[in-house]
Amino acid sequence: MPRPICVRFDTGALAHNLQVVRAAAPGTRVWAVVKANAYGHGLLRAAHALRAADGFALLDLDEAARLREAGFAHPILLLEGFFETADLETVDALHATPVVHHLAQVEMLERAALRRPLDVYLKINTGMNRLGFTGAAVRLAHERLKRLKQVKSVTLMTHFADADGPGGVADQMAAFAAVAGDLPGARSLANSAALLRYRETHGDWVRPGIALYGASPFPERGAADLGLRPAMTLTSEIIAVQTLAAGEGIGYGWRYRAARDMRIGVVACGYADGYPRHAPPDNALGAPVLVDGVPTRSVGRVAMDMLYVDLTALPGARVGSRVVLWGDGLPADDVAAACGTVSYEMFCALAARVPASEATA
Ligand SMILES: Cc1ncc(COP(=O)(O)O)c(C=O)c1O
Repeated sequence: MPRPICVRFDTGALAHNLQVVRAAAPGTRVWAVVKANAYGHGLLRAAHALRAADGFALLDLDEAARLREAGFAHPILLLEGFFETADLETVDALHATPVVHHLAQVEMLERAALRRPLDVYLKINTGMNRLGFTGAAVRLAHERLKRLKQVKSVTLMTHFADADGPGGVADQMAAFAAVAGDLPGARSLANSAALLRYRETHGDWVRPGIALYGASPFPERGAADLGLRPAMTLTSEIIAVQTLAAGEGIGYGWRYRAARDMRIGVVACGYADGYPRHAPPDNALGAPVLVDGVPTRSVGRVAMDMLYVDLTALPGARVGSRVVLWGDGLPADDVAAACGTVSYEMFCALAARVPASEATA
């Protein structure tokens, strides 16, 4: 008998969320961002569910190759481009669309002998200060790329640092206009937050990730409110019930001590399954959890394979009671907020040992 933990992927939710994105950015094309194993949802599973997207954006050539081997003929955007000259052979063979974000990549392209010219994305650093050209270097790189027979088209791209926060996009939009406003070519600027919040960022191609997986990019606005449906639901069961006397502690470090006599459920889910370990501070109630559909909270320090939940409000809960850690009925964003993280991290951290199933509800 395997441990009762399992993750269910709702492929119907992925397809639905893509429609929500399309409705929010009408007339633009959509790169479905499927990097990091589709944010933990399974690359091929997500790609099949999101096949109505106009292309897939990811990082690893291996992931690009897996998509091609599975028969996907969509454009594939390599968000960090290529890393060394030898990669260009694979980029060529896969006919992927590399991002070019530094000069060495331009030089590698200049030296490359390709079978077919490539579409490339020129990454402009407008303030994120992670990847991309700035100032006069943008125009120089653009000119060099446009001259190459190895290059079919150059799309201008940037990435927002705070489209989900108070900083917004205005400064970065102004920086983009200043360095690239008059350059020809398509535009791709918007992540989920920008495309849902700022119409002016839509350009020609949007690049949503988190919204496709049914979580909200915004701290103050829930996914359901945005019309999104969770694609990942992590469930388990109670495998033991402890009765604590007032003052007794639970788990490593006794980080939670019972204020009164109380029942605690031990859940088969720990940090080795991908549950965030840094949940509650000392003796506070922790992350939200559903037990038999009833909301309660985790208590104590999350262990490798188990965590603990307060059963005070659930006198009927027992070994075998169903537990939802996040997903259907319990937004991952709420759990993330309680654990001081983001749903992105929780999704990506989901461990390979958790058995997976699929639904299309
Ligand atoms: C360059 C780029 N574009 C788009 C995305 C998608 O962002 P989000 O998941 O916030 O929609 C990412 C994700 O980090 C990214 O790095």
